[in-house]
Amino acid sequence: MGSYRIEIVVIVSLMVLVPNAKGWGKDGHAIVCKIGQGRLSSAAAEAVSKLLPRSAENELASQCSWPDDVRKVIPWSSALHFADTADSVCSYDHTRDCVDQRTGVKNRCVVAAISNYTNQLLQYGTYTQSNYNLTEALLFLSHFIGDIHQPLHCGFVSDLGGNTINVLWYNTTQKLHRVWDDNIIETEFERFDEDFDGLVDAIQKNITEHCSNNDISCPALYASESAEDSCKWAYKDATEGSVLDDEYFLSRYPIVNLRLAQGGVRLAATLNRIFNTKYAAVI
Ligand SMILES: *[C@@H]1O[C@H](CO)[C@@H](O)[C@H](O)[C@H]1NC(C)=O
Ligand SMILES: *[C@@H]1O[C@H](CO)[C@@H](O)[C@H](O)[C@H]1NC(C)=O
Ligand SMILES: *[C@@H]1O[C@H](CO)[C@@H](O)[C@H](O)[C@H]1NC(C)=O
Ligand SMILES: *[C@@H]1O[C@H](CO)[C@@H](O)[C@H](O)[C@H]1NC(C)=O
Ligand SMILES: [Zn+2]
Repeated sequence: MGSYRIEIVVIVSLMVLVPNAKGWGKDGHAIVCKIGQGRLSSAAAEAVSKLLPRSAENELASQCSWPDDVRKVIPWSSALHFADTADSVCSYDHTRDCVDQRTGVKNRCVVAAISNYTNQLLQYGTYTQSNYNLTEALLFLSHFIGDIHQPLHCGFVSDLGGNTINVLWYNTTQKLHRVWDDNIIETEFERFDEDFDGLVDAIQKNITEHCSNNDISCPALYASESAEDSCKWAYKDATEGSVLDDEYFLSRYPIVNLRLAQGGVRLAATLNRIFNTKYAAVI
């Protein structure tokens, strides 16, 4: 009896403490990874294919939600899914914002995680045996490059990136964070009668990567864009109790599509740079 009660308390407090840890929903992550894998160089495609577990049948998209699935088993990872900013500040500051809010430990957020797993993957194909599981590094990196492009993963600390803001999405109650993880994408599928591949094709046009030549990944830049978009698009006109319907959906889905496309293109560019032998040889 006693231990039963403790278990409930633990579960409830975990739910209160880490509601923000999810990224795009499964569809959003799969879209980013599908776009990304389609743009890999032959060297990167080969490395990804070797690193993926056999059960994935060489589909990166099927594995991109793995970090959400294991979040409860490895609690240290939950702070790595986002980088919330100081309240009402629409920009990302690494020193201020890259902090595990629960422990106060610095340099634990999605920006640091992308650098971390990029560095681990640079050991692929070198003579040095990596201390890390590079399959996990690939899945974390692919997932976190998706997360960092979801504007509310760089939302405000006090509302947990929109997780404490309840809105009506058409006629159902949702958290604002979830609207951006899932509902906008789901409504696109329904409204435009798209299937998964159709939506992937539709959103991957006309995208450029802005990372400068000497950087392998540019997570702080992506976080700054998300922080700006969270103010300009996600939080705007969406306060507690707001009804979000066509007016919100029609003006926001192009932003969601752009962020998914950028996530995919930048994932590919990052993996191409990582598995380019020129970089690997430096390590
Ligand atoms: C870096 O990766 C290792 C292995 O997964 C993990 O233990 C560590 O917490 C990570 N740190 C960051 C900042 O991502
Ligand atoms: C690497 O991680 C994957 C996923 O957690 C696991 O299935 C695999 O057994 C690990 N590989 C090694 C060598 O530990
Ligand atoms: C919301 O509206 C849709 C379509 O108009 C309807 O099918 C659905 O049952 C409604 N849901 C609720 C919870 O009212
Ligand atoms: C590509 O982007 C430019 C600048 O944002 C825009 O003017 C143009 O219409 C876009 N083209 C397509 C095919 O989306
Ligand atoms: Zn996530």
